[in-house]
Amino acid sequence: MASMKLNVEDYRRAAKKVLPRFVFDYVDGAAERGECLRRNRAGLDRLALLPRTLRDTSALDTSIEVFGQTWRHPFAVAPMGFNGLTRPLGDVLLARAAASCGIPFVLSTASNARLEAVASSPSPLNWLQLYVMRERSIAEQMVRRARRAGYGALVLTVDVPVSGYRERDVRNGFRLPFRPSPATLFNLALHPRWLTRFVASGMPAFVNLAEEEGADTLQLQAALLSREMDRSLTWESLGWLRRLWDGPLLIKGVLHPEDAARARSAGVDGLIVSNHGGRQLDGAMSTIGALDGVLQAVDGHLPVFVDSGFRSGLDVVKALALGAKGVFIGRPLLYGLAVDGEDGAAAVLKLIATELERAMTLTGAAAVADLNRDILRSAELHFHQDITRGIAS
Ligand SMILES: Cc1cc2nc3c(=O)[nH]c(=O)nc-3n(C[C@H](O)[C@H](O)[C@H](O)COP(=O)(O)O)c2cc1C
Repeated sequence: MASMKLNVEDYRRAAKKVLPRFVFDYVDGAAERGECLRRNRAGLDRLALLPRTLRDTSALDTSIEVFGQTWRHPFAVAPMGFNGLTRPLGDVLLARAAASCGIPFVLSTASNARLEAVASSPSPLNWLQLYVMRERSIAEQMVRRARRAGYGALVLTVDVPVSGYRERDVRNGFRLPFRPSPATLFNLALHPRWLTRFVASGMPAFVNLAEEEGADTLQLQAALLSREMDRSLTWESLGWLRRLWDGPLLIKGVLHPEDAARARSAGVDGLIVSNHGGRQLDGAMSTIGALDGVLQAVDGHLPVFVDSGFRSGLDVVKALALGAKGVFIGRPLLYGLAVDGEDGAAAVLKLIATELERAMTLTGAAAVADLNRDILRSAELHFHQDITRGIAS
């Protein structure tokens, strides 16, 4: 009998069993010594809730409005590359799970499904994440196609001018072309179900890099994996993107308040405070710690989202109470996808939604707008004290 899965950590443990080691390490891993990864969690754990009571929560509403659209819950699926490695058609399965939950799905530039296939029923809740590589025409054709396919927002990721150093990937020999170490090969043999699916569907490719379906993209593929990013991209380059895309434009990977202010004056429509789940700059500040400075810098003029390390509805409540508009969730969705495909991803979303509803009820918030800083305290404090002291880490 499959073991009971009551929380995201249960899904993580189950994913570790079913995925070959090199895949689990790619999904689960972080940069260098994992300092940033741990700090994201520590930052969230350092916040405690001071609930309100005897408030009417009989008609609980977890929905939010973003760019004129309703999200059923105040969280969404973060963009992740190489989802086809966890499951063939992983991008499509995650998009479906998000759609059935009434929340956005962000397709990565490094997806293994064509953006037209993912948006087969066009919805403004399909968003596209953009990496700008040295060959700028790749980004240009993707943005044009996203517009035609009815994508609702564009997310420019700015924290990957070079790839973070993921030690677990290096040890496993995980790079393209894939040259697995003998230990990696031996480990593959221990995962026949994953291997059978993988052999049947073939090595997932970065199919969005060329405009034409089926075009020879070998060179582009290698460029993407070795992250030949355009390091000359600056705030001034945003004008170029603006001319290509007139819909909502978000910047993902901002931590510094002055960058947030810069984004605001550059006419960006939203920010995602992110350190890429601790996969890029090790030693970076926790996102829950950085959130406050960014919120002050944009002063309510832009919606500010956050991601990195969120593992439960309770974590989501903390970010919303601090002032985030919504939260993006990454790895937990891949754990669910690994365990049970679309159903597994949907179960993880459902789990987080249920935790969120329970946490809102227990804090006395009937709607997302009822969550505010009054209910936050530093977990290290044993007396009531202003929240703005003691949370930064
Ligand atoms: C396997 C994996 C691949 C990722 N690929 C991308 C990507 O292609 N583009 C991007 O903007 N962020 C990417 N990210 C970062 C996520 O969008 C998100 O910032 C991060 O996963 C959030 O942290 P969490 O996994 O702790 O929830 C990736 C994350 C993971 C785990």
